[in-house]
Amino acid sequence: ELRGVVALDGPSGTGKSTVARRLAGSLRSGYLDTGAMYRAVTLAVLRTGGDPAAVAASARLELSTDPTNPTVRLDGVDVSTDIRGPEVTLAVSAVSAVPEVRQALVRQQRDLIASALRSIGGIVVEGRDIGTVVAPDAALKVYLTASPDARAQRRSRQDVAAGRTASVEETLADVQRRDRLDSTRAVSPLRQASDAVEVDTTELDLAGVLAELLAMVDKRG
Ligand code: C5P
Repeated sequence: ELRGVVALDGPSGTGKSTVARRLAGSLRSGYLDTGAMYRAVTLAVLRTGGDPAAVAASARLELSTDPTNPTVRLDGVDVSTDIRGPEVTLAVSAVSAVPEVRQALVRQQRDLIASALRSIGGIVVEGRDIGTVVAPDAALKVYLTASPDARAQRRSRQDVAAGRTASVEETLADVQRRDRLDSTRAVSPLRQASDAVEVDTTELDLAGVLAELLAMVDKRG
């Protein structure tokens, strides 16, 4: 059982989402995918053509923190599938670099975390700035990494499974483009918190990563 917050950060394609969900399931804790929130705001920006800061202030997001059914609703409509499309993936890093967007979403993330802590006592939160900005006093901070090649392979397998096709080369280019944007933005860039434990998933399968993280939770719990 988990008391408190596990912060799971890292670039895309490290298997972060799958690991975070499964970890939350094993620990019977809540689960929050903060990337889904940036994606939902990006979807709203693309649909309305509005200014990101204004869209983030007015969009009504509802997140389920149940690891067996993590959904995101935008103004009452389930957009869990739409936010994974290529248009959103292409635009999300630019939208999430806007300071007002981050401010609005970080506030909502902290509220969601506080309410999960009150109701079930623990939550696994994944993103880019969880250990550094959203939950700096998390009980455990993990920074997942993997070689660019492994990340592109993983992403393109996910794309194929979801019925989207892109070559590994295209996917690698996209993963590297997003990393560059996410780690060079002025406000809360992607970086490892000084007290985060780095886990390299290049040579590990899902079970291996999970075992490492569960051991860390145990040690701290
Ligand atoms: O995790 P995912 O790949 O779905 O995140 C999509 C994008 O959302 C990231 O590339 C990043 O630009 C942004 N993001 C962020 N901060 C977070 C989570 C995601 O800026 N905490």
